[in-house]
Amino acid sequence: MPTVVKHSISCKIKSHDYNVTVSQFTQQILPEGFPETTVWGYGGKVRIPETDEIIPDFKSTPGPTFEAKRHIPINVQWSNNLTEPHPLAVDPTLHWADPNKMGMPMPPFPTFPSGFPLAQSPVPMVPHLHGGEIESSSDGYPEAWFTAGEAEIGPAFVKSLYHYVNEQEPTTMWYHDHTLGMTRLNVMMGLAGFYLLRDPQNHLDEKHSVLPQGKYEIPMVIQDRSFFDDGSLAYPSNGLVPNVHPYWIPGFLGNTIMVNGKVWPNLDVEPRQYRFRILNGSNDRFYNMAFSNQMPFVQIGTDGGYLPKPVQLDSLLIAPSERVDILIDFSQLTPGTKLIMTNTANAPFPNGNPPDPQTTGQIMQFTVLNKPAVVPPPLPKILNILYPLKRDSKKRTLTLNLVLGPTGPLEFLLDGQKWHMPTSELPLVGSTEDWQIVNLTGGAHPIHIHLIQFRLISRQGFLVNKYRSDWLALNGEPPLDHPTKVLPVEPYLLDGPINPPAHENGWKDTIQAYPGQVTTIRIRFAPQAEVVSIPGINQFPFNPAAEPGYVWHCHILDHEDNDMMRPYEVRNPLE
Ligand code: C2O
Ligand code: CU
Repeated sequence: MPTVVKHSISCKIKSHDYNVTVSQFTQQILPEGFPETTVWGYGGKVRIPETDEIIPDFKSTPGPTFEAKRHIPINVQWSNNLTEPHPLAVDPTLHWADPNKMGMPMPPFPTFPSGFPLAQSPVPMVPHLHGGEIESSSDGYPEAWFTAGEAEIGPAFVKSLYHYVNEQEPTTMWYHDHTLGMTRLNVMMGLAGFYLLRDPQNHLDEKHSVLPQGKYEIPMVIQDRSFFDDGSLAYPSNGLVPNVHPYWIPGFLGNTIMVNGKVWPNLDVEPRQYRFRILNGSNDRFYNMAFSNQMPFVQIGTDGGYLPKPVQLDSLLIAPSERVDILIDFSQLTPGTKLIMTNTANAPFPNGNPPDPQTTGQIMQFTVLNKPAVVPPPLPKILNILYPLKRDSKKRTLTLNLVLGPTGPLEFLLDGQKWHMPTSELPLVGSTEDWQIVNLTGGAHPIHIHLIQFRLISRQGFLVNKYRSDWLALNGEPPLDHPTKVLPVEPYLLDGPINPPAHENGWKDTIQAYPGQVTTIRIRFAPQAEVVSIPGINQFPFNPAAEPGYVWHCHILDHEDNDMMRPYEVRNPLE
């Protein structure tokens, strides 16, 4: 088995200025002896932390890991060096970047000429720092894309020198491409990497932390892929409703599991505790992680920071774009032990097929080295203080919709609205809202909101068929060409609300919304670090109401690209 790779970015030009370039290259993703794979990755001048070695032109997928410090802003100059046509089939019938202005979205065609050269080249890209509290002009808005040399730019493009303030709580973030209608393809090609924010003032992040550090702390991104015999990535190019969307599919599922750019890797571990910051970077696949020996592990962090207290788990379900910060103790295992991190999540989740125990049911292997065992120190009982959030503004009821075509899904929508419909979510800066996500589809959707971290309030069953028919009677068949009328969900609720489980009782930026349930989240549109909210006062270190705004969307990338994404804007009431 190949080995897990780890590297930190440090493409420092001046003290806090980075240059990161996207390019195409080949990488050994399949085991040695198999062909290399053509991928895209982020790169630049990198320092390898273990050896202090400087690599001037490093590139890889996943991209190098940013090591950022709280209260120290950084600037990143992002450059697009993709000059070859897109290797995967760009579907010009979606609402997409369309750098050649072919007309957007293209009308359905009875037959499609193969290749679509006008859609394959040039390649637009726009980087987004997922989980970051960021000014909108640096947020990687889907229409702020740019092609190589910025020859073509999207309608919302402001700049490619992004500013990250790093004021939020320390956590595991990730950066990835966010181009309109192409995110699934650009991330599939490799455009993803980690961004770790540490707080030197936090006892868990400082030098003498009880948490594993250095080579005992490893970010790991789990992604599923499929390959052709020549090593190239296999992403389907046959839509289920081909006369409408010739290439788009409702959810990519690969037959191979890749961790940090290696399929089914092995990690040699010492008999001691490790900290793994795990990201599900897959397009569609959920993972229910566990260990082949049923060994428990401890979760200490969520998307947006440390949990209030450590949570011991036997298994953990992670949806696309969720991050979990976990501690695994190998100190009780005999040297030579080989342990598999397994996956039991159905795909698509939850009503799809179970994974094959021989392939997609396995994520990676750990081999315990013959070294003296180091028993981990006890963890503090309290890891983080989470102040209570009180709703002082709107409760929004927002549906998740599937639009079915004759032979399969046509598109997915938020609240019956397509991406281009007028912005309907306009929260005030400093206000705290509840969003009730009413899932009317048959699958689970990881719902993600930019700019802020929120909290899970509850999940609750409801009479989905009754609500759906009443909602359709009130609003009509989606996509709606008018604002959605709200149908309160309260009369349809079943049983009692389910409180957040301990491992989700922290800061979240992505929440699993299950079918047949209403998922309620509480969102304060203010900096995460501010304990007191003063409504009407813009407390962000930037003006979040500046163009081009923010987005919220499903993080199943195939859904997000076809039209399960909506713009949202925070409004400053004093302006
Ligand atoms: Cu991970 Cu809108 O993105
Ligand atoms: Cu979705």
